[in-house]
Amino acid sequence: MRALVTGGAGFIGSTLVDRLLADGHEVAVVDDLSSGNVRNPDAPLHVMDVRDPALAELAERWRPEVVCHLAAQISVRRSVADPVTDARVNIEGTVNVLEAARRAGARKIVYASSVAVYGRPAVIPVPGDAHTDPRSPYAASKLGGELYLATYRALYGLEYTTLVLSNVYGPRQSPEGEAGVVAIFTDALLAGKPTVVFGDGSQTRDYVFVEDVVDGFARACGPRGDGRRVNLGTGVQTTDRELHRLIAAAAGAPDEPGFEPPRLGDLPAMAVDPAPAYEALGWRPRHDLPTGLKATVEWARQALV
Ligand SMILES: NC(=O)c1ccc[n+]([C@@H]2O[C@H](COP(=O)([O-])OP(=O)(O)OC[C@H]3O[C@@H](n4cnc5c(N)ncnc54)[C@H](O)[C@@H]3O)[C@@H](O)[C@H]2O)c1
Repeated sequence: MRALVTGGAGFIGSTLVDRLLADGHEVAVVDDLSSGNVRNPDAPLHVMDVRDPALAELAERWRPEVVCHLAAQISVRRSVADPVTDARVNIEGTVNVLEAARRAGARKIVYASSVAVYGRPAVIPVPGDAHTDPRSPYAASKLGGELYLATYRALYGLEYTTLVLSNVYGPRQSPEGEAGVVAIFTDALLAGKPTVVFGDGSQTRDYVFVEDVVDGFARACGPRGDGRRVNLGTGVQTTDRELHRLIAAAAGAPDEPGFEPPRLGDLPAMAVDPAPAYEALGWRPRHDLPTGLKATVEWARQALV
């Protein structure tokens, strides 16, 4: 298969590029390097904004069968501070990617959405058919991208799978993303610096290892999951306090966080039900949190030397 990966120099995208190449596929990357900087010498990198009209010519030359669209403005806080830029990158960028994909005759788009689209879910783990309730410009722009996928399928028969990602962690992650707390705790604990838990530490998130997430993308690149929207998460809730304990154990550091008042707007709990992803893609998470965190801390330790 020939694939185009947008955001392929970033945390999840670059891990996906490695996986697709290892599976024997041909891969090209589009990334403006605004936050990502990972290059795989076996995948040509086109330094380009996903909003650039030249993306269509690039896609027509490369003729991908599948486009994995991960390039995005990823910070919820930045989206609140500058919702116009967030919408430009995440909505206009997605439409430009869809246009390029259909003009190049691609079969399918695999799209990275976020559990942020669920707002404050009534049921946890969030079931596959939960209603969406975006409560930040980032959540709205990610959901906007999802709507355009359905539109392009109806108009042009361009297939899609939407992967709704919970909190992804692992090697190469940045402190800015939705599982940024893993990188923040890891970097601080390895450096012997103080760490802070906001609130009483009981807030929960569903941490899913990046290699499991890219396995979901790799599966969706095949014939399965067409026209589907599935959550990629573990269904397991982990508190901030437990996360700190696990990372401290992996880093060999004392488990003694400081506590500060909760941050306005922080969600008390989140986890998503992975069962529909198994039914649609045969996907299930393979790494438990201690195993994934060990690999993450080891990577960060190597990066320090
Ligand atoms: N990390 C998570 O926990 C998480 C959770 C839910 C959804 N997601 C989604 O997964 C995708 C990948 O996120 P990530 O965590 O790997 O973030 P990342 O910042 O590491 O990757 C995003 C990549 O997109 C590139 N990019 C940004 N704007 C661009 C533009 N206008 N044109 C071209 N390239 C651009 C960046 O340089 C970067 O390499 C995003 O779509 C994000 O919304 C991530």
